[in-house]
Amino acid sequence: MKDDFFKYQAQTTPHPLAMEISHAKGSYIYDTNNKVYLDFVAGVSACPLGHSHPRVVSAIKTQIDKYLHVMVYGEYIQKPAVDLCELLAKNLPFPLEKTYLVNSGTEAIEGALKLARRATGRSEIIAAHSAYHGNTMGSLSLMDFEERKAPFRPLLPEISHITFNNEAHLKHITTKTACVILETIQGGAGFIEPKNDYLQKVRERCNDVGALLILDEIQPGIGRTGKLFGFENYNCIPDILVTGKGLGGGLPIGAFTASTKLMETLQDNPKLGHITTFGGNPVIASAALATLQEITESDLMSQTLEKEKLIRSHLKHPLINEIRGKGLMLAAILPSAEIVNQLILKSQDNGLILFWLLFEPKAIRITPPLTISNEEIIKGCGIIVEVLNNIQIR
Ligand SMILES: Cc1ncc(COP(=O)(O)O)c(C=O)c1O
Repeated sequence: MKDDFFKYQAQTTPHPLAMEISHAKGSYIYDTNNKVYLDFVAGVSACPLGHSHPRVVSAIKTQIDKYLHVMVYGEYIQKPAVDLCELLAKNLPFPLEKTYLVNSGTEAIEGALKLARRATGRSEIIAAHSAYHGNTMGSLSLMDFEERKAPFRPLLPEISHITFNNEAHLKHITTKTACVILETIQGGAGFIEPKNDYLQKVRERCNDVGALLILDEIQPGIGRTGKLFGFENYNCIPDILVTGKGLGGGLPIGAFTASTKLMETLQDNPKLGHITTFGGNPVIASAALATLQEITESDLMSQTLEKEKLIRSHLKHPLINEIRGKGLMLAAILPSAEIVNQLILKSQDNGLILFWLLFEPKAIRITPPLTISNEEIIKGCGIIVEVLNNIQIR
């Protein structure tokens, strides 16, 4: 299987982890050698209820017996998609009411950018340095990492960058700006939280100049920071909310939500302002609905903050300089990329899954399922500390 993986499946790094998966349940992934791994990554924040949660699996099975794909997005009334959009609206503040369901995070970002341009009639877009919003052409254009963009140019024009948490840069948001797009908590940059009411200040500036504010909650959303969406921690309501990853409970999804008035602009001039075949797919919407129901009906969200404290209290080691982030979206910062690499690879040998962050080579990602138990947290932190105790520093 490994040979076929390298021969037939396109790779994006020269050294993928290449673990051969047998099955996964709860907080554990099992490989084909029957080795068990405790999962501190949750499919890169995409499995908030762990692996194969019974409520999600049951919702998928029930829907599979009724119907699969029947029509392109938005033509037929399909209960799973309607119920999902309604439950999102019921859990969001005014005026976030209408949701467009798509197939991935990056597609939701594309839809949000189109909506902002269409609604404002402006073209300039402002993003943040070190942001990550996805890898299709529009989302890639938002990134300021030239080395990763250069081979794909020309990309979208009229994109400029401000520094997250830098208030002096807010003056660059002007009456020419269609939208400002920010991650509520910067992910790839190293789990950087907004400070000193930064998001509120961005909100005010956008209001003053008539620009729309898009918040990318693809990673912090769906309970990971103790609230259903990260923005609820920072007193700032976006014009367009983008979500994905964890919303699908392990199936691929993306969504963007806005006010009814704003979203209606996608219906005319031109009509069919955004089209997708599979967006709102009934099986995926069923999985997402079950995920959202479980998260909003249980006390998983409030437990998240207790679990953060437990991780912080057990992850104490001279090589851990800092733990950044909020809830179960945490990054441990180590002295060097070399130590990070050793820690990730040796932890995997010792039965713990960790992973890198995109733009911060000194960080390891700790984003376990929200369903992880206290015992599992203590066990995983113990593995990290033991590996660090034995690390070779060159
Ligand atoms: C903050 C953020 N935005 C957008 C994306 C893109 O989502 P997807 O990979 O589903 O296209 C990601 C994925 O890592 C992300 O973390």
